[in-house]
Amino acid sequence: LPSDEPEPIKNASNRVLHRRSAPENDQRFWLRRIHEITRDLLELEEDEPVARGYGPQEMPQEIDINLNSKGHSSARVLNDLAMVARMTPKTSSRRFFNQLFAGRDGIATAAEILTTVLNSSMYTHKIAGINANIEDEVIQGLLPLVGFNQGDGSFFPGGSISNLVSLVLARENARTKMGSAERVSLDKFTAYTSECCHYSVVKNASITGIPRENVRKIPVDSKGRMSPEALSRKISEDKKSGFHPFLISATSGTTVIGAFDPLTDLADLAQEHGLWLHVDAALGGGVMFSKKQGHLLNGVKRADSLAWSAHKMMGVPLSCSVLLVKRRGALEECLAAEADYLFQAEDQSMDFGQKSIQCGRRNDALKLWSAWRHRGSNGMAARVDRLFELAQLTAKKIAANPELELAIAPDSINVCFRTLHSDPAEVCSRLAEEQSVMVGHAKVHGKSVIRVPHVNPDITEEDIDFLLSSIVEIDAACAR
Ligand SMILES: Cc1ncc(COP(=O)(O)O)c(C=O)c1O
Repeated sequence: LPSDEPEPIKNASNRVLHRRSAPENDQRFWLRRIHEITRDLLELEEDEPVARGYGPQEMPQEIDINLNSKGHSSARVLNDLAMVARMTPKTSSRRFFNQLFAGRDGIATAAEILTTVLNSSMYTHKIAGINANIEDEVIQGLLPLVGFNQGDGSFFPGGSISNLVSLVLARENARTKMGSAERVSLDKFTAYTSECCHYSVVKNASITGIPRENVRKIPVDSKGRMSPEALSRKISEDKKSGFHPFLISATSGTTVIGAFDPLTDLADLAQEHGLWLHVDAALGGGVMFSKKQGHLLNGVKRADSLAWSAHKMMGVPLSCSVLLVKRRGALEECLAAEADYLFQAEDQSMDFGQKSIQCGRRNDALKLWSAWRHRGSNGMAARVDRLFELAQLTAKKIAANPELELAIAPDSINVCFRTLHSDPAEVCSRLAEEQSVMVGHAKVHGKSVIRVPHVNPDITEEDIDFLLSSIVEIDAACAR
């Protein structure tokens, strides 16, 4: 052996367990380099908080991304990765207001990196080890916050998929209640959600065998909340026409307005008609931590399931979503299946593969647990309260600005407003082109608006002022 060959690793009985990898295969080499690239990225985010935009068919000259048969040197690929970091839209800078996630929670990001290095799979305790206990700790911590004291939950890859599973649970619940004699075709199943629902509700219906048009979009009030009266009328009408209502999918924190549906009224209707009540709290679920804002979820304990994406308001890296269910066992009834090659332990109480869609499942709990463990529930609440305060501050500034028009006084963290001179879509794309800020547009009550979600607690009043003054300036420039 060459003299610099590392000593083999031996166990207590002097048995050679393995040899250290040769330096060129050493993972530490790659991880160190990636550490350097991310360090540079954090600095760049300060200097250039908005990356230059490229169209889908445009390839920047500085990089080629073609794959070939021979491969490339490590130096070349590392250089490519550094370029990718530089060119990627910067969702974590204080100039990013485009989506319902933003910013970077330090500890959650660090835990996410560790998650990748650990590369666990959460299907069995044998493989996930303590990470399964941690996932359970998070679920058990969330359940009482929504009043599901006998409940359970599982992590799914995003709010859309959590909503999908709620539809499956609701469908199976309805079928079980029906009995075999009165089986109704899925073509007759109807689900109820609001006009402001997330688009996943509609596509999920078709995935579960229910026609898209059987998702009834119930009108909302001026604040974007589902109207219980209109819902009641539609359910009765459908029943008379031979349909089989099975699900109310409420939204707590709608995608554009950030509205919270009136859960108590919806729970009354769900109870009256024997329907499953799901709460899509992907965006707004974080209020469960807050004494100040928790009232927005009043009535939630009467729901059957709730989806929450911690990668939105809580700033945990994508993706981190849970589906909580009121009745323990409900998930397994729909998602468990036999697999003797996988589920082999005597104690399978933490073999969570029986309540997930995936087989191999990444560990999304560790990053949320790390943030929660570090800050405590009080810190989680403080974050949510800060986001609400920031939204109020933005709304106040818009209301006081004669060049802008508030579309709706916000009840939560999204602020929607109109520009006076040009189309919000044009303003948003000009802002991105000029690399000043990234912000998106949408429609409220049929009219185009700019939507500013407040999901990054690190933004300051100065950032809000910069955002609004940039919008006003570009609005005027577009009109010229
Ligand atoms: C109300 C609502 N539900 C569900 C989703 C989907 O969540 P995810 O992006 O985690 O799939 C979103 C996303 O914006 C949302 O706003």
